Parts: sequence; structure tokens; C-alpha cells
Amino acid sequence: MNNNEKASAYSQAARQAAALIDDVENATGALANVSALLKETFDGYFWVGFYLVHEGRLELGPFQGPVACYTIGKGRGVCGTAWEQAQTVIVPDVELFPGHIACSSKSRSEIVVPVFKSGKVVAVIDVDSTRTGAFDNDDKVGLEEIARLVSSLF
Ligand code: SME
Repeated sequence: MNNNEKASAYSQAARQAAALIDDVENATGALANVSALLKETFDGYFWVGFYLVHEGRLELGPFQGPVACYTIGKGRGVCGTAWEQAQTVIVPDVELFPGHIACSSKSRSEIVVPVFKSGKVVAVIDVDSTRTGAFDNDDKVGLEEIARLVSSLF
């Protein structure tokens, strides 16, 4: 998928995600559907899902992919770093990211995007790839739009 195709796939995914979220009261079901939508749309995604802020830590939410770690502390790993810094973090090579939490030895690169509600981080979207350097600014822009959409579920 070249960058044009990727940007357009994210636009289409955002439209589909909006429809999946619209009028849904069950946040768990909607987040599960958004995970499935993203996994189906992007072949390069090895793991995609949500970690939810709960009682001062991140807890595993709906996801698609292999079994993952359940809790992550603030500032820990890529997810906890994105939460603490309240900004998207792209890690082109997880082996070069100090403190990376290896839920799977197959993960080579990662992007984590915060979900904001009333200015606070309430969740993060985490995506892993088995390829180094899999994520770029198009993924950041596309996933930040998905994060804005799912914010309504919190
Ligand atoms: N690698 C993440 C942990 C979550 S798994 O990738 C699903 C991290 O360092 O925060």
C-alpha cells in the first residue's frame, strides 16, 4: 500500500468507524468493531487495540491479534509514554525504544495514539507491526482521526 492508498484507506476507515460508533451505547462492542475494522483494512497490522485508563493505569480493552499484556503503568512502555506525554508516539524499531513492553517477540515497530476526552487521555490506540518502520505520518493522521471519533464512547 503506497502513501496515497494508505491515506485513502484511513479516510474510508474513518467513515466506517463513524457509522459503527453512531448511536451505540455499548462502548466495548463499538471499540471491538473498530479494532476489527482496522485489522481488516490494514494487512500490515499485526496487533491493534485499545488500552483504557482505569484507576491510574492502562488496562487492556478490545483488540484484534495475539494475547497481550493486561496492565501498563503511566510512563511505562510505548503505551504508557504516549499517555504520559499526551501525544502520539511512533517507534520505528522497538528494540531501540528503552522500556518497550514486548507482548510479542514478533513486534518490530509500533504506533500509539492517545484518545482524549475533555482534554484528558482516557485511552490509547496501540498498533504493532512485524516490520520495522511500518508507521509514518499518514498512520498518525489517520489514527488520530479514529481516536477523535471513538472519544464519543467515553
Ligand atoms: N508494546 C506495548 C505494549 C502493548 S503490546 O504491544 C500489545 C508498549 O510498549 O507499551
